[in-house]
Amino acid sequence: MARKLPISVVILAAGQGKRMKSALPKVLQPLAGRPLLKHVVDTARALEPAAVHVVYGHGGEQVRAALAGEAVTWTLQAEQHGTGHAVMQAAPQLPDDHLVLILYGDVPLNQRATLEQLVALAGPKAVGLLTVLLDDPSGYGRVVRSRGKVTRIVEQNDAGRKELAIRECNTGVMAVPGRHLKKWLTRLRNHNAQGEYYLTDIIALAVKEGIEVVPLIAPTVVEVLGVNDKVQLAELEAAHRQLRARELMLEGATIVDPARFDVRGTVTVGRDVFIDVNVVLEGRVTLGEGVRIGPNCLVRDTSIGAGTQLFANCVIDHAEIGPDCRIGPFARTRPGVVMEREVHIGNFVEVKNSRIGEGSKSNHLTYLGDAVVGKRVNVGAGTVTCNYDGANKWQTHIGDGAFIGSGTMLVAPVRVGAGATIGAGSTITKDAPDGELTLARARQVSIPGWKRPVKRPKT
Ligand code: UD1
Ligand code: CA
Repeated sequence: MARKLPISVVILAAGQGKRMKSALPKVLQPLAGRPLLKHVVDTARALEPAAVHVVYGHGGEQVRAALAGEAVTWTLQAEQHGTGHAVMQAAPQLPDDHLVLILYGDVPLNQRATLEQLVALAGPKAVGLLTVLLDDPSGYGRVVRSRGKVTRIVEQNDAGRKELAIRECNTGVMAVPGRHLKKWLTRLRNHNAQGEYYLTDIIALAVKEGIEVVPLIAPTVVEVLGVNDKVQLAELEAAHRQLRARELMLEGATIVDPARFDVRGTVTVGRDVFIDVNVVLEGRVTLGEGVRIGPNCLVRDTSIGAGTQLFANCVIDHAEIGPDCRIGPFARTRPGVVMEREVHIGNFVEVKNSRIGEGSKSNHLTYLGDAVVGKRVNVGAGTVTCNYDGANKWQTHIGDGAFIGSGTMLVAPVRVGAGATIGAGSTITKDAPDGELTLARARQVSIPGWKRPVKRPKT
């Protein structure tokens, strides 16, 4: 096999996408929460290319802004005169001795393994062409073969009756040696049905020069499908969902219903993870061995330690959760929460920007914000850390082994000492010492002989 060439990726993303009927440019339409183009850039990146060039046009600045921060080179194709014309815009930036991999901003589910295979088939004297077998090839360029060898691609609008019957289609994805690509691009003509410069014409030019065109039939259809309208977008969203569910199941997760499970980010699972229906995982999520997630949970940018259980209807956002915790049902964490091992957070408990020590429990109807909670603390029902004075946020510290009675208001900044007990219904505005019972509530009085008012008779 030929020596491995450095790769320059060119992503075509200049098309308008009229059929989306959207103010958002087509390549920015979200799939699994990420713009289509971002999927392509991410997949390209996984191949460790020397450079990634994006040819953009419609929605220009909006597209660039949406992918700001990506290490890509932008090339403007101000007017769209075809796929060949699009690649021509990037040509000056493509080194002769690179392999140029052409991808499309509206084909989001390219599989890394397939692209790696394609790149491996190509070389200084070989073009790799990704094709696909379709039951209904209409609209696609057809791959014409003679005695098994690819000879050219003919576009639907330029094809004759016999060619129209060919089921092997051009995906558009190809890996082409830079030196040859640039030469062939200069030879493209737009004398065809659409008056465009077809990238596909380089295939016949290669064959004419004795450069081999090595076809690779895509193992699945979804990985080469483009998105033109919202129906196709939803179809690929579903395909993406299935692909991700499949990956996680092969890594050992039990997913009750892959059709009702959504990954919108990067997820790592340990063995025997169990995921019930309607679970959405967003951003970077790590689930340790044996983690169980109940129905209707949203987990975003969070790591969950082994053996932890999330009961139904939890929203967990940017948290670091230790092993063997029990959370929910109906618990919510907002960003900045760290829970050590064996923490229990129960129903209708909201936790924000807080650290909860090992074995501590807060099981009912509570708000813990900007709190540092020690180990083995028990927080009674209806406790509130009053962390906001209307202008600033303040911290509450609760020492190891403290017991906070139900209905306590902890007016921050305030400290509750280790082993302290706070009587139920207290409003704590000053530090409570270690080991003592602290109460802060009006003394209970009973008024002898008091009578309830009686209803006045109607006149
Ligand atoms: C192209 C292929 C066809 C293939 C099909 C697969 C050509 C001539 N034909 O046809 O063989 O079967 O894709 O979907 O290549 N684009 C630009 N600038 C342009 C023109 C296109 O950036 O000037 C981008 C579009 O945004 C789109 C992609 O290139 O992402 C394909 O363009 P499109 O016009 O959809 O090509 P097809 O006619 O579908
Ligand atoms: Ca197309």
